[in-house]
Amino acid sequence: MILEKKRRIEFGDFQTPDTLAVHLCEHLYRLGLRPDTIIEPTCGVGAFVLAAAHTFTDARKVFGFEVNETYLGMLRARLVNDPVAARVQIEHADFFATDWEAKTNAMNGRLLVVGNFPWVTNATQGTIGGKNLPVKSNCLGFSGFDAISGKANFDISEWMLLDVLRWLSVRGGDVAMLIKTSVARKVLAHAERRRYPVMDAAIIEIDAKKHFGASVNACLLVIQLDIGVSASYDYTVFKSLEDRQGRRVGHRYGLTVSDLDTFHACASLVGQSPQKWRSGIKHDASAVMELTRCASSYENGFGESVELEDLYLFPLLKGSDIGSNKEWREKFVLVTQRTVGEDTSPIQSHAPRTWAYLQDHADQLDARRSRIYSKNPRFSVFGVGDYAFKPWRIAICGLYKALKFRLVPPMDGRPVMFDDTVYYLSFDTEDDACQTLAIIESHNATDLLLSLIFWDEKRPIKTSILNVLDWSQLQEEKSAIAVTEKNRSSLPMT
Ligand SMILES: C[S@@+](CC[C@H](N)C(=O)[O-])C[C@H]1O[C@@H](n2cnc3c(N)ncnc32)[C@H](O)[C@@H]1O
Repeated sequence: MILEKKRRIEFGDFQTPDTLAVHLCEHLYRLGLRPDTIIEPTCGVGAFVLAAAHTFTDARKVFGFEVNETYLGMLRARLVNDPVAARVQIEHADFFATDWEAKTNAMNGRLLVVGNFPWVTNATQGTIGGKNLPVKSNCLGFSGFDAISGKANFDISEWMLLDVLRWLSVRGGDVAMLIKTSVARKVLAHAERRRYPVMDAAIIEIDAKKHFGASVNACLLVIQLDIGVSASYDYTVFKSLEDRQGRRVGHRYGLTVSDLDTFHACASLVGQSPQKWRSGIKHDASAVMELTRCASSYENGFGESVELEDLYLFPLLKGSDIGSNKEWREKFVLVTQRTVGEDTSPIQSHAPRTWAYLQDHADQLDARRSRIYSKNPRFSVFGVGDYAFKPWRIAICGLYKALKFRLVPPMDGRPVMFDDTVYYLSFDTEDDACQTLAIIESHNATDLLLSLIFWDEKRPIKTSILNVLDWSQLQEEKSAIAVTEKNRSSLPMT
């Protein structure tokens, strides 16, 4: 049983229900796809092989490939007495060991590659000791440290789909694949970077909970490639098979725009934020660096009661506090530097108890895995600079699925710090913070930001999005209105 569970994880095994495969193939037919040859590269027990063979009755051949012999046996049994069997050919194949170019070169006419690739990531393979991976390790072009350490995480389906696009891009053809929506977007961005000859593309959202019992945002990704026509990289996202209108999505200024119509309507606000959005403090040692005030002492994450000077302690609001608008819970964080790379040894004379506490927990702090710590003074933190010590803030948590900014005043007479899931702007005065908040919460600013956010992402709100809102444009509009109103009130009464 445990072995069977491991196999299902390693092979990303989520067989598509027959009814869903039929609905999807019929939808592709309605979209106008008319393949001569159909390929299901990881066909399992054959839901798509059968649905495609029955829907695309003009297709001369339907090929089903699969690594699991038992599934191929089941598919063979399903084909007995089925009139489509004469057009269906099934073969045992490991996707990663197959020379797809050679195989498809021998196939005639327009190709449709359809199906549902394995649902598993390379990181999961690492955890369970799975071997179902591409041989080439840096296949997705990861750079630097991630590539060397092999740390970069990717979905196996992403690798497979990019491979399909690579060989279809030189001959044309259609792809229709059930896939995670986040992977679909990455694949479309990749197709644009590579200037593949995409004629049209769509993401049709699927209820993965209903059909697969999986809590993931999934879709049918359809890409039509045609040699010799001018490529177009905007695509349509449909909320379901019944959604006839959809919304246009595309890439502008290096950003993926989730709603092109709204984005174009607010295009005058696209630029550079007058102040850079910053992330909260990064220290990778919350049990040591984060403390809760209890009476006259502080308690750390190990439950130890400690007495520290105030000098390096700052009130802390965590991402969850910001995201769910909670009150301050008397939490503090040790901020050992005012700028990145600053020498930490003066803590010894300025705050001897704090220094002793850091020394006592040096083992945990020295063991922080990221290389940035070993290259910097001992006990370093990141996310510091002049901006981190200004008293007033506007903050938002990147992990929450709401565009909700929060004005954060100083607490206990000190600027409030955040963890690194929070993005913020900082100000010297309450007035400046309140005025900016009113501007970035205005209708146009909100529309622009919303047109750039994909709510199904793990961290939907990012600095790359916040930083393109040039709110100085709105500030000017506001002051122009204010000036006109002032002028009006100072007109002589007649
Ligand atoms: C998500 S299931 C989908 C099956 C089928 N495409 C469908 O839609 O029902 C993924 C399938 O990929 C197969 N598979 C996994 N790794 C494979 C590989 N390296 N080569 C070929 N097939 C593979 C699994 O055995 C499984 O049947």
